[in-house]
Amino acid sequence: TEQEEWEEHQFNSALSTNQSPSDSYDLVMEDQIEFISQQILQGTRKRSAAGNNANKNTLEDVDAEENENDDADPAAAAALTAHEKILVTRKKLPVYPYRDEFLAAVKENKVLIVVGETGSGKTTQIPQYLHEAGWSKIGKIGCTQPRRVAAMSVAARVSQEMDCKLGQEVGYSIRFEDCTSESTVIKYMTDGMLLREFLNEPDLGSYSVMMIDEAHERTLHTDVLFGLVKDITRFREDDFRLVISSATLDAEKFSAFFDNASIFMIPGRMFPVDILYTKAPEADYLDAVIVTILQIHVTQSVPGDILVFLTGQEEIETCVEILNHRTKGLGSKIRELTICPIYSTLPSDMQAKIFEKTQEGARKVVIGTNIAETSLTIDGICYVIDIGFCKQKSYNPKTGMESLIVTPVSKAAANQRAGRAGRTQPGKCFRLYTAWSYEHELEDNTVPEIQRTNMGNVVLMLKSLGINDLLHFDFMDKPPAETLMRALEQLYALGALNDRGELTKLGRRMAEFPVDPMMSKCILESEKYSCTAEILTIVSMLSIGSSVFYRPKDKAVHADNAKMNFARGAGDHIALLRCYNDWVETSYSTQWCYENYVQVRSMNKARDIREQLEGLCERVELEVISNNDVDIISKTITSGYFYNIAKLTKTGEYKTAKHQHTVYIHPSSVLIKEEEPAPWVVYHELAFTTKEYMRMVLRIRKEW
Ligand code: CDP
Ligand code: MG
Repeated sequence: TEQEEWEEHQFNSALSTNQSPSDSYDLVMEDQIEFISQQILQGTRKRSAAGNNANKNTLEDVDAEENENDDADPAAAAALTAHEKILVTRKKLPVYPYRDEFLAAVKENKVLIVVGETGSGKTTQIPQYLHEAGWSKIGKIGCTQPRRVAAMSVAARVSQEMDCKLGQEVGYSIRFEDCTSESTVIKYMTDGMLLREFLNEPDLGSYSVMMIDEAHERTLHTDVLFGLVKDITRFREDDFRLVISSATLDAEKFSAFFDNASIFMIPGRMFPVDILYTKAPEADYLDAVIVTILQIHVTQSVPGDILVFLTGQEEIETCVEILNHRTKGLGSKIRELTICPIYSTLPSDMQAKIFEKTQEGARKVVIGTNIAETSLTIDGICYVIDIGFCKQKSYNPKTGMESLIVTPVSKAAANQRAGRAGRTQPGKCFRLYTAWSYEHELEDNTVPEIQRTNMGNVVLMLKSLGINDLLHFDFMDKPPAETLMRALEQLYALGALNDRGELTKLGRRMAEFPVDPMMSKCILESEKYSCTAEILTIVSMLSIGSSVFYRPKDKAVHADNAKMNFARGAGDHIALLRCYNDWVETSYSTQWCYENYVQVRSMNKARDIREQLEGLCERVELEVISNNDVDIISKTITSGYFYNIAKLTKTGEYKTAKHQHTVYIHPSSVLIKEEEPAPWVVYHELAFTTKEYMRMVLRIRKEW
C-alpha cells in the first residue's frame, strides 16, 4: 500500500544510514556526545510531594495497622501475598491520602470536578473508593474512557485489585464487546457506549455515580455526554452523583459549565523532567527515534524505561521491526531491550505486556500512539521520546469529507507527553523537533474533536433521544453550525429524518445499530433486496478496525494473489464477503487463514461482531435472508454510501460526484490492478496520505 511503501522507504533509509549493526553502534556512540551536549532549553517542573499531614486512612478491605514500610524489609515483603502487595501499592498512590476528603466532597456535591496528574490513581481508585463507601448499594458506579484499550486494561487492573474475576464485580463495555454481568458494580466503558446506554436508560437509573473520566481529552462523545449528564443531575434525586475527572488544570472551564461545580485537586508528585530539543528539524523522524532509543539505552546509566510517541499502528510496527533487527545485530554488546508496542487494535494479551515489570538488568521501550499520553499510566518510565505529531481526524463540513491526517500536537499534549517521564523519578524528554517549533508552530491546545469531525452518528443518536433542537443543545464548545447542518442534511438524504427534521421509522431502526448511519442504512435497505446476510458480513468485516489481509514483505506477491482471488474482478467489499464465506465453509479453519494470508484474529472478531449485528436485526424485526448476487449486494451498498460516489475522468483519476474533488484508488484496493478501470465506484472512506485516497472501493453502475 501507499502507506507501506512510504514506511518501507523509511525502513530502507533508516538501515542504509547504518550499513551494518555494528556500524550503527559506532554511530550511536558518536552521536551520543553531540546529543548529550544539547542545551537543556526548558526548566524543570517540580511539585512538592503530597502532604503527609492529610488524614491517614486504611482501605476498608486492608487489615488495620498494616505497616507502610513493610516492603522495605524483604522478609516481610515476601510474606505478603500477591493481593496484599497490590493493596500496599494502592495505598502509595497520590490520591490515597485524600480518600476520606474526596468521599466527603462527593457526598456534599452532586457534581464534582476532580483534577490530578496522570498516574495519581483517579481512574483505578475513585470508583473503588465509591464502592467501598457504599455507593454501589444504591446503583452501579460507571466510569467512561475515551479509548477502548484504557477501558479494558483499567477494568482488568481493578478486578485484580479487588481480587475478583473480570466481568464479575468489575467489568467493561466497549463497542461489540460487553464484559459485564448481573453482579457488576463497577463498570468501565467507552464514552460512546454510555451514549448508547442513554437510548435504553435516559435517566441512567441503574447508576448511583457516573464518572466522566479523561474529560480533558474532549472527544466528541465525551462532549455530547457533558450536555446529557448535566441534565440528569438536575432531575435525579439525591441518589446520583456526577464526577468529572481531568488530568489537566483547565478545571475552571468544566466547573463553569457544570453550574460552578466544586473542584477537588489531588496534589501530584511530579519529579523534574529535563526537556531536550533537536537543533535542526529531523528529516526522518522514525530514523531519529531509533537512534535516540539506542542512544538512551547504551549511554544512560540510570535504569528506567523508555516511552515513544508515534502516530499510528503501521508506523509503530515498522519501528518495532527495525529495532528488533538492530538489537539482534548488536547481540550481547548491549543490555536486553524489551520492546512493547501499544495501539488501540493491539490484541489484549499483548496490551498487558506493557504493564509487566521490566526484568532486572533489562530496559523496556514502549512504543505507542497518544494512547499513552494520559489514558494509560505505565510505571517506571523515565525517558520520553516525542516526535511531536499525532494522527488527527479532520473534517471539512463544506465537502463532508473526513480524513485522518498526521498533525503537529499541541503544546498541552507535548507537555503531557513529557510529564510521563517524571512519575517515579526525575526523567528526560527528547523532543525530536526544535525549540523554535515548539514555541512558534504548536497550538496551545488541541481543538476539541466536536469541531473537526462528522456528526452524523451523534446527531442520529440525539434525535433518537428526543433532542430536536440541536442548535440549542448545551454544548461546552459548539460544533460549527455547518457541521450540524451537514449531518442533518445527510440523515435526511438517507431517509432517517423527514423534511421537518424529525426522526423517521427508518431512522429509529437505524439508530439501533452502533455503526455509522451510512452503514446502518445499508443494513436496513438490505431487507428490500433480501441480502441482509451478505450485508451483515460486509459490515462486520469493515468494522473490525484492523486489517483482514496480511502481506509479509517477502511473500507480497502470494498475499496479493490470494486477495485478488477473493475479489475475482469485483471490488473490495465483495472480496471481504467471499473471504468470510470461504472461511465459514472451512468451519472457521485457522489453517485456511494461514494459507490465504488472512488474519485469524480479525476473522474471529468479524464473526463475533456479525453475531451481535444479527441480534440487533432481531430487535428491529429484520429477517436475515441471503442473496449472493454481486449486483444486488453492490446496489445495496450504494443505497447507503451514495455520498461516496466517484466517477472516472478521462485523465484516469476519479472525481467525487458531489463536489468534483479529485481522489484516487488506494494501492491496497483490489481494483487498482484492473485493466479496465471502473467508470463509477463507491468508496467506504477517504484517507489522506500523499494524496486523497479512496479505501475499500466497489464498482457500481451509473443507473443505480
Ligand atoms: O487515572 P490516573 O491517571 O490518575 O491513574 P490510574 O490509571 O488510576 O493509575 C494508578 C496506578 O495504577 C498507576 O501506578 C498505574 O501504573 C497502575 N495501573 C496498572 O498497573 N495497570 C493498569 N492497567 C492501570 C493502572
Ligand atoms: Mg486515568
